[in-house]
Amino acid sequence: MDRIRITGGNELRGTIPISGAKNAALPLMIASLLTSDTLTLENVPHLADVEQLLRILGNHGVDISVNGRRESQTESYSRTIHFTCRTIVDTTAPYELVSKMRASFWVIGPLLAREGRARVSLPGGCAIGTRPVDLFLESLAALGAEIEIDGGYVNVAAPKGGLVGAHYTFPKVSVGATHVMLMAATLAKGTTVIENAAREPEIVDLADCLIAMGAKISGAGTKTITIEGVSSLSGARHRVLPDRIETGTYAMAVAMTGGDVTLQGTQASLLDNALDTLRLAGAEITETESGLRVVRNGNGIQPVDIVTEPFPGFPTDLQAQFMALMSRSSGVSHVTETIFENRFMHVQELARLGARISLSGQMARIEGVPRLKGAPVMATDLRASVSLVIAGLAAEGETMVSRVYHLDRGFERLEEKLTRCGAIVERVSD
Ligand code: EPZ
Repeated sequence: MDRIRITGGNELRGTIPISGAKNAALPLMIASLLTSDTLTLENVPHLADVEQLLRILGNHGVDISVNGRRESQTESYSRTIHFTCRTIVDTTAPYELVSKMRASFWVIGPLLAREGRARVSLPGGCAIGTRPVDLFLESLAALGAEIEIDGGYVNVAAPKGGLVGAHYTFPKVSVGATHVMLMAATLAKGTTVIENAAREPEIVDLADCLIAMGAKISGAGTKTITIEGVSSLSGARHRVLPDRIETGTYAMAVAMTGGDVTLQGTQASLLDNALDTLRLAGAEITETESGLRVVRNGNGIQPVDIVTEPFPGFPTDLQAQFMALMSRSSGVSHVTETIFENRFMHVQELARLGARISLSGQMARIEGVPRLKGAPVMATDLRASVSLVIAGLAAEGETMVSRVYHLDRGFERLEEKLTRCGAIVERVSD
């Protein structure tokens, strides 16, 4: 199993290209199930989660060609992938495939909308909380679906004549359930209004792509999304938006090590809240023609309190990285996690590097220390693992991060991007 060895202490200086967003690419790829025409996605990142979803889509009958070639492996950044699902050959998403990644459960929406039925295994994914699927089932039931859970599978069936538009208010904001209801409603009869919808940029990206495919959607990015159902969707060409979590992660890395890095191809508007928080912590961040410039020269890291919230609040997917940064601040800060109940697994690993963090329920109290010291640590989930990398970059000596397959799910060419900016990071294969 691969590990990552980091020799800490170097400032980061240079340019880091920001990849297409994993969490936008996944629902966009799933949207290809809604049409028999070709959906072409540009700027698709090369990540383990994307490769896994390619396998799942292939199982449903999606014909996939990468950069014009019929293969799923390519070394190029910013891949263009063509998805063509002439017919859905299988409406079952099996446990062996779905258990590895929660987002694969989202195929339930398009399969139900296009074929009138689906059988999808209950999902897996990062172990950051119980992560139920009740909101998916309630919102699909609102569109008229009959639902039954049997042997670890969710069986859904549309009424005769297909799904029917409805007015539905989510009792809690859910990114995934909003994606799924949005996709399902595009092919339902009549009007659907989704209230208390997730407002994440990835929702807007999916809506933009669906509109290019012929869907009638308004309000994406606000709490109320309205969809006028259409009888079919066509193909389209769409570019995946930049990864705001990768952007925020590297911005925090620079804030932590000091230095001057341009994050190329990204946009500040995708993560205003996190950037404002980083400014309070002492980083200078400016928008440039090519992206964002992040600088921290000389001044120390100030303590700042954060509370994770749905967009436009501070993202839970940057919480672990921010905690790593705060572990070197000049005072005491607090991090409150409100989205997932078990997203503090990085705390004990950060402690191995010398961080002083205590937990009380959903709040962490971080007492900044003047230095961290390298140690062997273990990645526990995707974002937690990158927080250990960031901490390792700023720690004295060597940090060895094991279980890096978590990192490969969501960070494209992490070692290469950091090494180019002067970090000493290498992958060690046993
Ligand atoms: C998406 O997960 C992201 N994944 C997550 O990123 C991200 O952390 C999360 O949104 C929150 O921003 C992708 O986009 C692929 P939710 P999702 O449904 O959709 C509860 C990463 O590291 N809930 O918005 O699964 C749920 O338990 C990943 O890239 C229900 O109670 O998150 C959580 O407490 C990890 N019932 C809250 O809602 C449901 O039916 C928000 O979850 C669904 C969710």
